Amino acid sequence: MIATKKRTGLAAPPDAVRSLRRRLRRLGWEFVDRRLESEQRRGVLGPAHRRWRSNSAADNRDRWTHWDWTGGGEEWNASAEWKQVLIDYVLIVWIPEDQVVLEIGPGAGRWSAVLQPRARRLILVDVTERALALCRERFAAAANVEYALSSGNDLPGIPDSSIDAIWSFDVFVHVAPVDQAAYLAEVARVLTAGGVAVIHHADGRNVGNLPSRQGWRSPMSRNLFATLAAECGLTVETQIDSWGPDGLYDLSAYHDVITVCRKTPSA
Ligand SMILES: C[S@@+](CC[C@H](N)C(=O)[O-])C[C@H]1O[C@@H](n2cnc3c(N)ncnc32)[C@H](O)[C@@H]1O
Repeated sequence: MIATKKRTGLAAPPDAVRSLRRRLRRLGWEFVDRRLESEQRRGVLGPAHRRWRSNSAADNRDRWTHWDWTGGGEEWNASAEWKQVLIDYVLIVWIPEDQVVLEIGPGAGRWSAVLQPRARRLILVDVTERALALCRERFAAAANVEYALSSGNDLPGIPDSSIDAIWSFDVFVHVAPVDQAAYLAEVARVLTAGGVAVIHHADGRNVGNLPSRQGWRSPMSRNLFATLAAECGLTVETQIDSWGPDGLYDLSAYHDVITVCRKTPSA
């Protein structure tokens, strides 16, 4: 009996072990996040970003293949007006009409439905066949839509200098930093000289209303994204974090930004 009591006294109760593990995990996260923030401030794709294991192409493929798409992605709109103002003040302003347009990560086509009637050709590139299947069904009657399956950081089958404009919203925020960097090289490869890319991505770690890890969000900052874009021969024209009349809407919930960059004609 005494021996039993001693054993019980020595073994930590399961909830204490769990709480210790949680605390250690949080400490590990805080350590990594501090290093990420430091690299982001300096605009460097350093070891903390390069070693980021979450948000891989395989993780994304799995997550979005099994996603419940019955809401069509419209559930991510803050409101119908929020979506319309984003279209009016950002998409329509930067994505020209009657051009060859490519969208990275269309999902169920929340933005593709706006791009499709405006584009001469619209090429939808996604990491999961599921998203492409949803869009094929949605745009079955449209003769100007094409589809390509990405391995998670490439634009396969898209010839060099063949795309006038690129749109991507709510995608890079979930894509690992090394894949974001690889995509920027692809963006620079496929854009025509003077072509434009409008890409929504994270701007910092654990800022906004929710901690980054809770939203399964990939590290990036406006500084780092601009540096990576410049390294590929893309000129950043602007970085948008609010839009609409008097900046009515913004990306403060997660602290994101939309980078607009253009392929330098000589690149
Ligand atoms: C949150 S959903 C957003 C869908 C759509 N852009 C929207 O705003 O409604 C993310 C989309 O990006 C795609 N995606 C995730 N990682 C990707 C990657 N590495 N390359 C291409 N597409 C990716 C997913 O399959 C999914 O379709």
